[in-house]
This record gives sequence, structure tokens and C-alpha cells, in this order.
Amino acid sequence: MIRFDDVTKTYGDLTVLGPVSGEIRAGGVTSLVGSNGAGKSTLLTIIGRLLQPTSGRIEVGGLDVANASRRELARTLAILRQENHLTARLRVEELVTFGRFPHTGGRATLQDREHVQRALEFLDLVPFRDRFLDQLSGGQRQRAFVAMTIAQDTDYLLLDEPLNNLDLAHAANMMRLVRRAADELGKTVVMVVHDINVAAAYSDRIIALRDGRIVADGGPAEIMTSATLADVFGLHIDVHEIDGQLVAMHHTGVPLSVVA
Ligand SMILES: Nc1ncnc2c1ncn2[C@@H]1O[C@H](COP(=O)(O)OP(=O)(O)OP(=O)(O)O)[C@@H](O)[C@H]1O
Ligand SMILES: [Mg+2]
Repeated sequence: MIRFDDVTKTYGDLTVLGPVSGEIRAGGVTSLVGSNGAGKSTLLTIIGRLLQPTSGRIEVGGLDVANASRRELARTLAILRQENHLTARLRVEELVTFGRFPHTGGRATLQDREHVQRALEFLDLVPFRDRFLDQLSGGQRQRAFVAMTIAQDTDYLLLDEPLNNLDLAHAANMMRLVRRAADELGKTVVMVVHDINVAAAYSDRIIALRDGRIVADGGPAEIMTSATLADVFGLHIDVHEIDGQLVAMHHTGVPLSVVA
């Protein structure tokens, strides 16, 4: 379970998050949605201890995030950042092997190699394994960072915009991977996603943020209403049911996304 109690983040006089509190039960896929600047990445990176909260307490899988050792935390949760800047000249396979570091401490075992191989295969990266990261397209590089996150093989996966830069086929593949991680491996996935239709199709729960506060929280059927979406995004959005799937469209009739 993930718990966050009265978490806030302020920069000077500006409060960008909170106070927010919530619980995310172990297992399943939870999406964080909301407009640019709503506080999604702030909340996710605070949960993953990449950012220090101004106040509040976070617990992940029974660990007090503020006080856990680096190794304990890295064996419990893996986080994909929204932007990955890496200056080191690394090959794809080396990057993915870094994901195993909390387990190996540096010396990769046969089991580590299997995790790396599986992550490379899942993300369609086998042909690129010996390429340097700066020799990849944006989407290929994004997949390499996701592969590293997955290779860490933690119970909790925090993914900030995993679909960034991905084409339709790889986006669909990524979402199937996320669902399998939850359904078959029992992982708890929390991801930030802009595409509300993708969130609705693949999540068990959607938490919507606006101006640093949680303004809606529930299953896709609860969130996918014109009233709730207007409140979250400040847009008039129609919701249609197509083949049993709730699909949000701009009121002009333009689908807000293509759900793969
Ligand atoms: N270092 C900082 N100093 C001041 N304000 C910051 C800082 N970092 C982030 N913010 C502000 O915090 C708010 C929340 O940012 P956050 O990155 O959490 O948004 P987000 O919901 O992830 O948005 P996006 O969809 O654009 O990724 C934004 O208004 C941003 O400008
Ligand atoms: Mg963000």
C-alpha cells in the first residue's frame, strides 16, 4: 500500500501541492491525471523520494519513505521520471542493467541478466541493446528508461508519463505491459498520463489533480463524466460509450485521443 498524509510542497510563498492525503491499495493500476502544472509529477516524485515534501508523511509497502535506506527503497519502488537527462555515454543494455543495481550491488548474476533480457524484449529493444542512448530516437530512448525501471522488478512502479514520445503501437504495448505487471505479477502501478481515454481504458482508479489538490478520485466510470472532466480540465468534454468503453471527446466531436 502507498499512503500519503497531509503532503505539501511549497516553493517560497507558492504552494504547488497539497495538502493531499490518500491511500493506494497494493495491486492494480492508478492513474494521476490533470492539466499541466496540476502537481502530478510533484506528488509522484515525492512518493518516490526524488523530491522532498515541505510537510507530510509517505509510506510505500510498509516503508517510511523519509527514513528508509536507499537500498530498501530501491528494492521496493522504481520510478520513471518525466524527463531523463543523462550525460554519461551509456549503451541501452548498460542502462537497463543499472536497474538491477539495488539487487546486485554491481555484479550481475544470471538472474539479473534474465531480468535485463526480459525488459529489453518487453520494450522491443533487443535490436538496440548495443546502441548508445544518444543514438536512439526519442521514443526508443523513452523505452530504454522504462526498461531500466521494469528491470528493477519492484512491487511498486511509479511511471511519470510513460507514453511520452511513443508511437501508437508502442503506446498500446506499454499499456498492455502495465496491465500485465498489475494483473499477472501483482505489481502496484501509479502512472501519470495525459490521455484521459488511455487512463479510463487501463486504470482501476483515477486520481485527478487541479492546482495541487485532489479534485476527483474513483474508478473510470466515476471520473469519465462531463461534469467531472469539466471540473478537472476546465473544458467541455462529452463522454460517449463505444463498445462498452467510455471515450471522452471534445464537444466539437474530435476524440481527445486514439485509444489503441
Ligand atoms: N523548482 C520549482 N520552483 C517553483 N515552482 C515549481 C518548481 N518545480 C515545479 N514547480 C511548479 O509546481 C507546479 C506543479 O508542477 P508539476 O511538475 O507537479 O506539474 P504536473 O502536473 O506534473 O504538470 P505536467 O503535466 O506539465 O507535467 C507547477 O506549477 C510548476 O510550475
Ligand atoms: Mg509532470
